[in-house]
Amino acid sequence: MQNTFALLFIAAACGVAAFPSQNHSSTPDAADVWKHKKISLEEAFVLPELVEHVFSFPQPIGVSNETFRAQFLDIGPIRLQQMDDLGIDYMILSHTAPLAQGVNESDAAEALATRANDYLGENIKNNTDRLGGFAMLSLHDPMQAANELERAVSNYGFHGAFMYTYQDYSFNETYYLSDPRYDPLWQRLVDLDLPVYIHPRGPGPRQMLDYLPSTPDLIGGGYQFSNDVGLTLMKMIAYGVFDRFPSLKVISGHMGEHLPSDLFRLDAQVDRLRSALNLPALHDVSYYFQNNFYETTSGDFADDLLNFHIQQIGIERILFSVDYPYENLADGTKWLDNLTLPDGEKAQIARGNALKLLKLDG
Ligand SMILES: *[C@@H]1O[C@H](CO)[C@@H](O)[C@H](O)[C@H]1NC(C)=O
Ligand SMILES: *[C@@H]1O[C@H](CO)[C@@H](O)[C@H](O)[C@H]1NC(C)=O
Ligand SMILES: *[C@@H]1O[C@H](CO)[C@@H](O)[C@H](O)[C@H]1NC(C)=O
Ligand SMILES: *[C@@H]1O[C@H](CO)[C@@H](O)[C@H](O)[C@H]1NC(C)=O
Ligand SMILES: *[C@@H]1O[C@H](CO)[C@@H](O)[C@H](O)[C@H]1NC(C)=O
Ligand SMILES: *[C@@H]1O[C@H](CO)[C@@H](O)[C@H](O)[C@H]1NC(C)=O
Repeated sequence: MQNTFALLFIAAACGVAAFPSQNHSSTPDAADVWKHKKISLEEAFVLPELVEHVFSFPQPIGVSNETFRAQFLDIGPIRLQQMDDLGIDYMILSHTAPLAQGVNESDAAEALATRANDYLGENIKNNTDRLGGFAMLSLHDPMQAANELERAVSNYGFHGAFMYTYQDYSFNETYYLSDPRYDPLWQRLVDLDLPVYIHPRGPGPRQMLDYLPSTPDLIGGGYQFSNDVGLTLMKMIAYGVFDRFPSLKVISGHMGEHLPSDLFRLDAQVDRLRSALNLPALHDVSYYFQNNFYETTSGDFADDLLNFHIQQIGIERILFSVDYPYENLADGTKWLDNLTLPDGEKAQIARGNALKLLKLDG
């Protein structure tokens, strides 16, 4: 059964193009127009002076070092050509990890985030119908971060903030996003009605002492990334960030970093801890997933998991993304194109949910 509402929504969104873009391919009909108009929002670039950092984690099998490097550096022709070929209408870029959040000194960290925002903003200027950005931030001073977010949004039309799970300060100081020191930043996001995309990064210097002796190979996408974001999101929930900021919107990639796969147990255990330890969280974990969270499909092109998450958190909270160049753009788009879901539902994941969340059709 087609989702009639979604079809109407997409047809309407098409009539009034969100982005006056060039012709992609033959005029599609309403049922599969999404195939040519996908929006993706976890896609990376790198500043030229940091390009060797992209080799911190391995590239997709079959992609040479030269291609990988070129794909990261490119904010123009290589990306746009693939987007045309694969039916991606609009892509939102962010800088690969950890950028300013990996810099101990606040002045240097703040300068680096500003440089990345200016660099991205200048490089997408000629293609704002196809490319957008998320603001990169230093989290040393939350008020400075809030101001930099607002500057990047007003100068370059960025769509929200992109954050890694913690800020480097020193060996023994690691403040995760659950720390109340970040409240001014959440307040600004709420005031601007913009989301924050929370992305994994490698372990900090102190956590590295635990990983290195036993599990060096699982640092990164092999497991540590999901552990990193999953724990950060659970800390934000448990310690009341979403009770203080009930309209804060968080996007996480990689299909929610395992959490929406296990809400039964998370609800049961957190309920128990709430009463035993007076955890500040007012609601079940599921509640926050159904009110504050969005997930993307980045790097997790798994049919059964997608169907399960549609049941668990609702299709309106699931958005398409690939995680390019760490993943092949073609793998993610062809997976979505080929999914056995009604066109109306694929349209929501491919485009409709992003238009609403990021207010792109406004
Ligand atoms: C787009 O398609 C229209 C109608 O087919 C055509 O008139 C126009 O020249 C095309 N524009 C470009 C840039 O190809
Ligand atoms: C690719 O780059 C990595 C990291 O710099 C290096 O270890 C590896 O040997 C390179 N591979 C090739 C084929 O040059
Ligand atoms: C972007 O536009 C400027 C002028 O507005 C032009 O000088 C520059 O070559 C353009 N860059 C690209 C990549 O099209
Ligand atoms: C930041 O400080 C930690 C701990 O003192 C150190 O291990 C790390 O190398 C420093 N990072 C940078 C980029 O200097
Ligand atoms: C970190 O803290 C531990 C104890 O809490 C202390 O033994 C150690 O010296 C500290 N390390 C640094 C680099 O300050
Ligand atoms: C598309 O889906 C069909 C069945 O659902 C499967 O047999 C086929 O391998 C898929 N193709 C791709 C490119 O994923």
